Amino acid sequence: MLDNKRILLIVAGGIAAYKTPELVRLIGKAGGQARVILTRAGGQFVTPMTLASVSGDTVYDDLFSFTEESDMGHIQLSRDADLVVVAPATADLMAKMAAGLADDLASTALLATDKPVIIAPAMNVRMWEHPATQHNLKTLNARGIRCVGPEEGDMACGEYGMGRMAEPGDILVAIQSFFRTSDRLIGRRALVTSGPTHEAIDPVRYIANRSSGKQGHAIAAALAAMGAETTLVSGPTNQPDPAGVQVIRVQSARNMLDACENALPADIAVCAAAVADWRPADEASRKMKKEPGTAPAPMALDENPDILRTLGAAGNKRPGLLIGFAAETGAVVENAQKKRLSKGCDWILANDVSSQTGTFGGDDNTVHLVDKDGVENWPRLSKVAVAEKLADRIAMTLEASA
Ligand code: C5P
Repeated sequence: MLDNKRILLIVAGGIAAYKTPELVRLIGKAGGQARVILTRAGGQFVTPMTLASVSGDTVYDDLFSFTEESDMGHIQLSRDADLVVVAPATADLMAKMAAGLADDLASTALLATDKPVIIAPAMNVRMWEHPATQHNLKTLNARGIRCVGPEEGDMACGEYGMGRMAEPGDILVAIQSFFRTSDRLIGRRALVTSGPTHEAIDPVRYIANRSSGKQGHAIAAALAAMGAETTLVSGPTNQPDPAGVQVIRVQSARNMLDACENALPADIAVCAAAVADWRPADEASRKMKKEPGTAPAPMALDENPDILRTLGAAGNKRPGLLIGFAAETGAVVENAQKKRLSKGCDWILANDVSSQTGTFGGDDNTVHLVDKDGVENWPRLSKVAVAEKLADRIAMTLEASA
């Protein structure tokens, strides 16, 4: 049951919009309240009157309507909901969401919302497969936006392929499963580290590594989506900030350690950052010049603090469940087992980052979860799926010990 949960349904302009009155009816039947925003193009496929009748509420369809703005502004509309559902999510609306455009009520509400969002894409197969749409989908996924469908089948345009909107019943299942998981970590504090660190050589050069931050950011998003109050301490990355997460940006390992210690206490800590092990012993205050004909001076290095190990030895401030990663290029599980003990953490997620695996910078990851009882081999999954599976395991463990 949806227990009076408030769902803001955004109906964009695709033929699948004709199925949305049924979705509104199912949400109501399951005990939820649907409020509808209809785009101008959506209004060509389903009438405001139909949606108003099934939702029992005004249908909002004009950003510049003064009565609606004074009655219920676009910011208020998006904040008042527990969940925003976009169905059908057209290629155009997905592109606007990815780019942060806001030129009508639907896109403005989506940009203004701080609430979780589920999209149900629907479009022609070629539009779905277009690199632009796939790129936008990845951007939206990385922000923690969930996606239900599309499905394969006959299309209204006469073609066959991926792009049919998920059926209203399946969208309802996605909404219900979202609410089932969304409160599992409420009241828990989580700390996640992500990305590489940059260790300055001089004002323009630094030592770093190839970590993209994709896995760490996805973990922070998944923990926040389950209701954890999540702090993400991130080295320099190009990843968008995950929804509902407090992001603290740092450069060096020492900055990262300070930010982590300030974020304590935490019930959960996941150290996914690829922290540089060493830093230049002396950071030059001016750009180092090369002297023609002279050999470069050797660079002395100092060891960086080990953040995971420091958290593991933090006494009564030690996070209740402490999880590290082990990026290895050989003997992956054996090394992870040793690392778990030496760093004082509870679990290690071991992954093979040999160049042929494409893990560094890629979208997929093959993980082995090593804990005190042994090893669990996970199948190759997207980094987002690894994050969701990990968040589920964390919630299960905390529920079992509560
Ligand atoms: O020793 P290694 O770098 O392989 O350990 C990996 C694990 O330790 C990761 O969880 C990483 O985030 C963490 N780590 C850390 N601080 C360091 C080095 C590694 O937190 N200086």
